[in-house]
Amino acid sequence: MDKMKIYGGKTLNGSIYVSGAKNSALPILFSTLLAQGKHTLHNVPRLADIDSTFLLLKELGCKVLRDGNTATVEVSRPPSLEATYDIVRKMRASILCLGPLLAHYGSARVSLPGGCAIGTRPIDIHLDGMKELGAEITTQSGYVEARAKKLVGGTILFENPSVGATENIMMAASLAEGTTVIENAAKEPEIVDLANYINKMGGRVEGAGSSILTIVGVKKLTPSEHTIIPDRIEAGTLLIAGAITGGEVTVKSCHPKDFEALILKLREAGFKVTTTEDSATVYPLKKWKGVDVTTAPHPGFPTDLQAQFMALMTQGEGTSVVTETIFENRFMHVQELVRLGADITPKTRVAVVRGVPGGLTGAPVMATDLRASASLVLAGLVAKGETTVGRIYHLDRGYEALENKLTQLGARLERLRE
Ligand code: UD1
Repeated sequence: MDKMKIYGGKTLNGSIYVSGAKNSALPILFSTLLAQGKHTLHNVPRLADIDSTFLLLKELGCKVLRDGNTATVEVSRPPSLEATYDIVRKMRASILCLGPLLAHYGSARVSLPGGCAIGTRPIDIHLDGMKELGAEITTQSGYVEARAKKLVGGTILFENPSVGATENIMMAASLAEGTTVIENAAKEPEIVDLANYINKMGGRVEGAGSSILTIVGVKKLTPSEHTIIPDRIEAGTLLIAGAITGGEVTVKSCHPKDFEALILKLREAGFKVTTTEDSATVYPLKKWKGVDVTTAPHPGFPTDLQAQFMALMTQGEGTSVVTETIFENRFMHVQELVRLGADITPKTRVAVVRGVPGGLTGAPVMATDLRASASLVLAGLVAKGETTVGRIYHLDRGYEALENKLTQLGARLERLRE
């Protein structure tokens, strides 16, 4: 398993381009299953999770070709309507094939994703939504089986604004008979991107980006062409990399409006951050203050930036209270940050970070999930000496060429292949 060795203490400076959003590319790739023919998608990042999606699409009979960051997906009738445990266990987002397969072909069989490092992550909201549209759902032998002669639109109230469930139901409803209204829908920018692609295919989704989504079902969708939005989590991570090392870093080809909650928190901590429509710059600051942060659905502070922001807070002055409200077990980076010298007391959903500016020292640490691994890399950038982050495959699931990007900005790090 590859490791990342980081030689801490370098100040990062310069500008860097952000890749396409993983969390947008994944549902849009699955949405291709709604329309037979050839889809062309640009700005698709090179990531392990995207490769897993390609593999699943291929098992579902699609021809997938990648040329640089453009992917073409040629969809034809699948030989089977099944997503096996082998793929789903690697990538929970595989559940997103359920809606499109059910809507297009009338049935689907998808392995239950099971637990994962950051919590139990159930799929009840996805399944209840499908039932509301008229699907018959059974779960047996570790698989969800969904069937429906036809899906019929209805009003669905989500008990919480699940991103994945909003996407899955939006896709299913786009080929249902009649109109579906999702109340308390997720408002993430990736939802808007998916809605835009469905509409390009001839769908009728309105209200994406607000908490009420209206989907007027159509008889047929037709493949189209689309450019995936920039990755706001990668952009935020790179901005924090600049901040934590006291450098001036500009992230380019991003949408700062999509990670405004982070920018506001950086400013509250004392950083100067400027933005244009498609770039954000953080400026050097020697001392910053600890600020409290609570994760929340968009436009709140994203749970996917919580671990990285906590790394920054370990170097702030004073105390910062980090509260995680989305996932119940998303503090696994805490013990690893403590191994580097951070002073953090974790409780169930709250972590109290007492800043120790300049107090981190390199050590071997272990990545436990995607964003936790980014947090450890950020801490390693400022820790004295060498930090080795193990299980770096987590990072490869969601960050395109992170080590190259950080190196371009002046970091010293290397991948140890094992
Ligand atoms: C997506 C993102 C992930 C991000 C998360 C929250 C993708 C591929 N992944 O994950 O990076 O961290 O949004 O912004 O886009 N829940 C239920 N029942 C359900 C579904 C969800 O109880 O059926 C709960 C989850 O356990 C969690 C919360 O709802 O506590 C939010 O989860 P959700 O928004 O669904 O996250 P994902 O779509 O899995």
